[in-house]
Amino acid sequence: MITTVTLNPSLDRRITVDGLKVDESNRWTGLRLYAGGKGIDVSRAIHEMGGQTMAYGFIGGREGRTLEILLDEEGVPFSFTPIEQETRTNFIVLDTRTSRQTIINAPGPRISKRELERFLKKLRGVYPSPELMVASGSVPPGVPVDIYRTIVAEAKKRGIRTVLDAAGRWLEEGIKAKPYLIKPNVHEAEELLKTELPTEEAITKATLTLVKKGIEIAVISRGKDGIVAASKNGIFKAVPPPVKVRSAVGAGDSTVAGFALKLAQGEPLIEACRLAVAMGTAAVLTPGTELCHKADVEKLLPQIEVAKGSIKPRAKTFFPAGN
Ligand SMILES: Nc1ncnc2c1ncn2[C@@H]1O[C@H](COP(=O)(O)OP(=O)(O)OP(=O)(O)O)[C@@H](O)[C@H]1O
Ligand SMILES: [Mg+2]
Repeated sequence: MITTVTLNPSLDRRITVDGLKVDESNRWTGLRLYAGGKGIDVSRAIHEMGGQTMAYGFIGGREGRTLEILLDEEGVPFSFTPIEQETRTNFIVLDTRTSRQTIINAPGPRISKRELERFLKKLRGVYPSPELMVASGSVPPGVPVDIYRTIVAEAKKRGIRTVLDAAGRWLEEGIKAKPYLIKPNVHEAEELLKTELPTEEAITKATLTLVKKGIEIAVISRGKDGIVAASKNGIFKAVPPPVKVRSAVGAGDSTVAGFALKLAQGEPLIEACRLAVAMGTAAVLTPGTELCHKADVEKLLPQIEVAKGSIKPRAKTFFPAGN
């Protein structure tokens, strides 16, 4: 079982217009509701691949109930903690004429101390313990900035491995508890390490720096260039074939789901890298917020180039020539 944590889920309203005119009245051509949130997306991708998962987090009000109905319809299992305030709504306006997308995100409901306590108690009580817990995404008002540090530390005490996919201060604080795996993208890794990462070599070194900080597996994702991952056993690179991108939304979440699925089963990191990149890349083939489809993942798997590199600091090239 892989549990996921989404502290700030959202009921996304995806509005399609054919040629958006600012300052004028427009007519939408499509409106879709979507149960959004990074941890929820990870659960959704795991479910798509046939894995066992349960999504945890906060849910409130009518918007929250709608979100639960949507997840029910998809068959994604959840066990949210109810809150007094309303679950947030994000608006995504897609202009089909220009293919441009405007996203308007809400900060989210304020979580009270009691609600937070109830949620943490629920996580502590998950039985039997999951093989892996994934905590992803933004943190709503009222929740302390070091919440991921608390969640990771508590899980660790129970022997549960954790995957943390967050950004900024939330990630910075969270890694103090040394999660099992983190997966920032290049920009998030630059922010975390307060340095620019312009080359593959710099990115690889950054993953090693993160491993030295006590993170067992440090992954940096690089969009179309795939990922670089490091553990004490070596460094790994996985690169997808060129594909036609329809929407990169949710690519990172699908990548995280791929890692979680393989590592929860105790499979080697190199295989986890392969599945992670296949799932991330399959997610960009689908439009809008849609994540990966299992059939695409299976088609992509043999096309992912995976290489193991040297971790000797003297080595000039991190990966065999030609990779
Ligand atoms: N243009 C692309 N072509 C092929 N694969 C892609 C592309 N963009 C992303 N991917 C796949 O998705 C993975 C994650 O992408 P990226 O590094 O952009 O994650 P992210 O910024 O964390 O995404 P998210 O916004 O979903 O959190 C990549 O490692 C790759 O497998
Ligand atoms: Mg991401």
